[in-house]
Amino acid sequence: MAQFNLPKGSQYTEGKTWPKPVGAKNVQEFRIYRWNQDDGANPRIDTYYVDRDDCGPMVLDALLWIKNKVDATLTFRRSCREGICGSCAMNIMGQNTLACTLGIDDCKSNQVKIYPLPHMPVLKDLVPDLTSFFAQHAAIEPWLQTETPSPEKEWQQTPEDRARLDGLYECILCACCTTSCPSYWWNGDRFLGPAALLQAYRWLIDSRDEHTGERLDSLHDPFRLYRCHTIMNCANTCPKGLNPAKAIAEIKKMMVAREV
Ligand code: SF4
Ligand code: SF4
Ligand code: FES
Repeated sequence: MAQFNLPKGSQYTEGKTWPKPVGAKNVQEFRIYRWNQDDGANPRIDTYYVDRDDCGPMVLDALLWIKNKVDATLTFRRSCREGICGSCAMNIMGQNTLACTLGIDDCKSNQVKIYPLPHMPVLKDLVPDLTSFFAQHAAIEPWLQTETPSPEKEWQQTPEDRARLDGLYECILCACCTTSCPSYWWNGDRFLGPAALLQAYRWLIDSRDEHTGERLDSLHDPFRLYRCHTIMNCANTCPKGLNPAKAIAEIKKMMVAREV
């Protein structure tokens, strides 16, 4: 029988349990992944207790409370705390989502478990290395490409053409979808993944863009587009309610349509 082993140093251990806040009556437990490449140790899970009466309602509020009042070394990304920047994406209770838009009460657990986005190299604690994710976004050339001379004012669209971008332009590049995609886990070096492909479709159907053929040519590859097997994890996890799987299916239809 085949035996699979985790790479050396990847198995996590029980970490430190930090003291409960003195005098707190409403306490929530958090179990948080910790890893620091500088100390040479395996990852560990630390346990923290947050005073809910002294903390905001969102998971990001709890992380900030811990960082400010308990353990300043806890490392995570955040910026807008409004679900706009995409930087606080992490795996909370087994689901990739935004810490700033998920309520602590919505976790519905005595123990809120927080890990970094899956299947990405970790830089520290809850911070994944998104270098390849953003390189793949750049690879689909996410900007308007035209041949006709630029108009004196703006490139115009009808309201109907503009409406076709709804459900696409709202993507905040948080990487929740791409890091939840099994096809991306196995072929992340060659499959572009749902976030980059949703963006590719956003430019393919932009009525002002004149490089549709070239864009389709660059996706016509056994891995870049066709590794999507419609597993739908991406649509299920997107914190903005978008549907990358549908966008990918639409690109495949465009491929077929130009070949008939
Ligand atoms: S499609 Fe959704 S989950 Fe994927 S990067 Fe965009 S906002 Fe995040
Ligand atoms: S539908 Fe495609 S892109 Fe989305 S999770 Fe499944 S395989 Fe990945
Ligand atoms: S902090 Fe910006 S999306 Fe959460």
